[in-house]
Amino acid sequence: MANDKIQMTSEALEAIKKNFHISVNEMREIAKAFRLEMCMALAGKKSSLKMILTYAKKPAGTEKGNFIALDLGGTNFRILELELKGSGRTGRPVVMKFKLDKDFLTKNRELDKTRKLGFTFSFPVKQTGIASGYLVCWTKGFCASGVVGRDIVRLLEEALIKKNLRGVEVAALINDTVGTLAARSYKDRNCDIGAIIGTGTNACYAEPAMGGAIINTEWGNFDKVRRTAFDILIDSQSDRPGQQALEKMVSGMYLGEVALKVIRAYVLPGLKNFSTEQMSAVESDRSKGLAVTGMILKRAGAGNTTPNERFMCREISSAIALRAARLSAACLSAVVKKIDPSVFGTHTIAIDGSVYEKHPYFAKNISAALKDIFGAKASRIKVVLAKDGSGIGAAITAAAASQAGGFLLKILLVISIAADTLTQFLRGLV
Ligand code: GLC
Repeated sequence: MANDKIQMTSEALEAIKKNFHISVNEMREIAKAFRLEMCMALAGKKSSLKMILTYAKKPAGTEKGNFIALDLGGTNFRILELELKGSGRTGRPVVMKFKLDKDFLTKNRELDKTRKLGFTFSFPVKQTGIASGYLVCWTKGFCASGVVGRDIVRLLEEALIKKNLRGVEVAALINDTVGTLAARSYKDRNCDIGAIIGTGTNACYAEPAMGGAIINTEWGNFDKVRRTAFDILIDSQSDRPGQQALEKMVSGMYLGEVALKVIRAYVLPGLKNFSTEQMSAVESDRSKGLAVTGMILKRAGAGNTTPNERFMCREISSAIALRAARLSAACLSAVVKKIDPSVFGTHTIAIDGSVYEKHPYFAKNISAALKDIFGAKASRIKVVLAKDGSGIGAAITAAAASQAGGFLLKILLVISIAADTLTQFLRGLV
């Protein structure tokens, strides 16, 4: 009987693995579809990609001075101060991390100093200039009302003025992917792609056909990709069904959820929760009989588990995370080919985000998948972690923007009569 059960589960496991497996051919097909979607969007046609012109360019690497950055990512609001030394070198960034709460602006007197600031706002923003742009829609479960359609920089400036922080001038508004690209390309001329694989996922690149202008693809919404019944279920139960298809298969906000659904269906019906962090911990488990996994599962409501059940959970987690890495690699390969169709040159892809940084195999799996896709040419593509790139890059972009045009120094801080301020919209987030 016991053997029957093991036999059955291992067959089920094979079926699950097959369902989540992305072959080399499938990656190439996805890449083709992705490139087509890029071109469609650039031509103003219907596409699941937004391909937003960011008004940012790669920094020259010679920018100098002290700048500050605000980085609104997912869970935390980070403020950092950075000294740019020119010649591609920076001082060590001074990073302060705040939980998002309505008083963080008042608590943080750093913003009192007269400084140019880069603002990383990691959501789809239709930019109207380097330091202006309105929110198109919320992603990653954010839903504060009254912000969609509003100029994000204007909201920040109003909030700063309201708190009497008049010394700050917002010189650049950027997406976190743009920050990641800027952070690496300040010291690495080959860097032309920036990506985030964290709570959300997205990528941007420097488009040679547009003089190197950086385009934010908003690839989280890419939808020309095969979904399993589990993905469809997660989408239908999400706050925005039909949106962010790729993000729901790749990012930290959803990976644990996909695994939870599969584990519940096939192995442990009693499992109550399973986060992406727990997934990483299970995949890293080297303990005898997967005892650590047993503890994690017990704490997550599954009760006592057999070694075989734990093994199943680990295999399921790996299959789902592997799919995420291969999907990311397929999309990255499409971006590389958009820049350089025959991959003649060398390219650095800078990636930031908790999943890429912390998952035990994600980075390795991306590199292996790029090898599968490009063969020997994969050696021309370097993939690097750009830790804290989104914030560091905001300071660098603020520097580049300030040095690019003096008119930016004269940005007027408009005091709007509207009652909504950044503080109020932040209140909606907590
Ligand atoms: C979401 C946002 C996108 C951001 C990404 C990573 O996909 O829409 O703008 O870059 O998350 O944080």
